[in-house]
Amino acid sequence: MQSLICVSLLYQQVTPQLMLAVGTAVIGSLQFGYNTGVINAPQHIIESFYNETWSSRFSEPISQTTLTALWSLSVAIFSVGGMFGSFSVSLFVNRFGRRNSMLMANVLAFIAAAFMGFSKLAASFEMLIVGRFIVGLYSGLCTGFVPMYVEEISPTSLRGALGTLHQLGVVIGILMAQIFGIESIMGNASLWPLLLGFTLLPAVLQCVLLPLCPESPRYLLINCNEESKAHSILIKLRGTDEVSEDMQEMREESQQMKREKTVTIPELFRSPIYRQPIFVAIMLQLSQQLSGINAVFYYSTGIFKRAGVSQPVYATIGTGVVNTAFTVVSLFVVERMGRRPLHLVGLMGMAVSAIFLTVAMALLDQIRWMSYVSIAAIFSFVAFFEIGPGPIPWFIVAELFSQGPRPAAIAVAGFSNWSANFLVGMCFQYVEQLCGPYVFIIFTVLLLGFFVFTYFKVPETKGRTFDEIAAGFRQSAGQGADKYSAPDEFNTLRGDDPDL
Ligand code: GLC
Repeated sequence: MQSLICVSLLYQQVTPQLMLAVGTAVIGSLQFGYNTGVINAPQHIIESFYNETWSSRFSEPISQTTLTALWSLSVAIFSVGGMFGSFSVSLFVNRFGRRNSMLMANVLAFIAAAFMGFSKLAASFEMLIVGRFIVGLYSGLCTGFVPMYVEEISPTSLRGALGTLHQLGVVIGILMAQIFGIESIMGNASLWPLLLGFTLLPAVLQCVLLPLCPESPRYLLINCNEESKAHSILIKLRGTDEVSEDMQEMREESQQMKREKTVTIPELFRSPIYRQPIFVAIMLQLSQQLSGINAVFYYSTGIFKRAGVSQPVYATIGTGVVNTAFTVVSLFVVERMGRRPLHLVGLMGMAVSAIFLTVAMALLDQIRWMSYVSIAAIFSFVAFFEIGPGPIPWFIVAELFSQGPRPAAIAVAGFSNWSANFLVGMCFQYVEQLCGPYVFIIFTVLLLGFFVFTYFKVPETKGRTFDEIAAGFRQSAGQGADKYSAPDEFNTLRGDDPDL
């Protein structure tokens, strides 16, 4: 009976207007995922293009060292763009609004598509690298804009589930890129420019749909003081005239923000109120990237090849399928189980999978069927990632901060995420050359460290209003950040003092 009531409540809350807005926003997430996954399968084909271009310019073939360096750069410059993009989020969102910021960012997707799509015609790998940088800028902006917009328009009880849709967009993007990258589709010597230029189409679609979506009512009310506009948008988003509770919650946050004033990035680190949550936010981002997930999504075809898999491209697509399936699992359980337990299970599961992968790679020469173990280990590594460390860090940052510090916090968190992404993308091939089959041990150690951190320091945010969450941190800061230890203390602290 109770679950029936829950399901019917859920249906009431998931209105067509809300789904249109969320669905349109996550096209940006899809773009981020697509460009993450797109360079994996056609690595060798595009490397041949680099080689041909090099030979025709310098009349000698490219050396292996230069090729590795150029390829690592082409992969990782995407995350350099992401670092700049994510850091610029706060310049846009309060000035132009959340929706218009997303709309404007598409200009970058168009430019990037042109650079990458025409690089072969122009015989210029530099164009491809510049295109990757620009599409990285765009993706960095998306990783700030999308979770912020989605969280701000969602009802509290659905924030985690709808927040996970950002990650679902990412993983579908990766899967699309992996499938399109099959040789018989676009992953071949003549069509790879189309594969990279494809990013144009989702950008066009988002430009058509965004004008039909509402601005974030939270932004309108809190940042622009446009109460009646916010009210009518909320009525549409919620599909009911009864929005007084949401309005009240936003007014309270607005009051709180007037007391807080605008928070700049340095203030996030200086103020004892924000120091704890920003530290948690940064560590969660690092736990996502330093888990080693993008070693798989950038380089899995090569990893599978070295693990003796005969059809590495298909195994890579397998990772995309597992990735998508487990994001859907997370979507359905995140509101029931909460963020913390899922993140913990995910980190531990990844650590164990990484150990299996290492053993399998190390024994490959002696035992042939170890290549199957390595496939299974990579699949389970990815599955556990999507249970928690994939989706949760992206949306939890918006939950950990109220409207005042939120844009700055999202910028800092995004920057940390992309920097770590860059580190893995750039260094993995080199470290792998050094450590051979033992490379994933590094990730295992890091994963265990993040597990311990999450256990002691990360609070549960499920079902709490933004203001309640922020109040928990304010109160613990008041009692001395050192004494703070989530989650128990946090649980008992939350909402204790309505004046906070
Ligand atoms: C997350 C990460 C991204 C990664 C993806 C894999 O969105 O931020 O870097 O490629 O998950 O699913």
